[in-house]
Amino acid sequence: MSETAIAGYDYGRVGPSPVGKDDLEALKAAVLFGPEDEAALRRAGEVLGDQVEAILDVWYAFVGANPQLVAAFAGPEGEPVTTYLDRVRPRFGQWIKDTCLRPYDEAWLAYQEEIAERHTPAKKNKTDHAPSIDHVPLRYLIALISPITSTVRDFLARGDRPAAEVDAMHEAWRKAVILQVALWARPYAPQLW
Ligand code: HEM
Repeated sequence: MSETAIAGYDYGRVGPSPVGKDDLEALKAAVLFGPEDEAALRRAGEVLGDQVEAILDVWYAFVGANPQLVAAFAGPEGEPVTTYLDRVRPRFGQWIKDTCLRPYDEAWLAYQEEIAERHTPAKKNKTDHAPSIDHVPLRYLIALISPITSTVRDFLARGDRPAAEVDAMHEAWRKAVILQVALWARPYAPQLW
């Protein structure tokens, strides 16, 4: 992977996560995420790999059309900070690939905690020196599971695979996103997690 060139992408350089392997396994079981989903995600990674920019176009348009979401990328006057949006974008793209292709091991767990903190006052804005609000509201983090899941289906279908295969890849993607957002909830409510 060519992730070394992505500004602020610190995969492998953070951690360890406060979440242990046993907690991860229990969470995977709770979202019904199994080996067949891992295999389907690998195939999804092949299909989505060269469509990342097009997916990001859809997601950025969605965020751009929703002022309550743009607010997380806005400066003190409420105007979107373009440099901030531009710097986060390649990391978001890399996340699509990581979700599909990385093993969900300790390094992955550690980066989940890092992404989580980058949505909270602990680390939001710091990576990109952005003059913006100090956290992403947890309710929107959860709500975004819906568009981030439903919009991917068309891209998976473009891979020319059988319908049952598209279903399996989409299902695995849905579970992987829910799993991650569940992990990202931890720093928002450490005592209750
Ligand atoms: C950063 C994913 C929800 C605003 C990121 C990154 C990823 C990501 C992969 C980059 C992590 C890195 O630095 O390597 C997601 C996913 C979400 C979600 C999968 C929901 C399922 C949201 C929502 C908002 C938001 C709802 C705003 C309303 C941001 C901002 C950053 C960011 C502002 C930059 C944080 C920083 O300053 O480092 N997100 N996100 N995210 N996301 Fe999200």
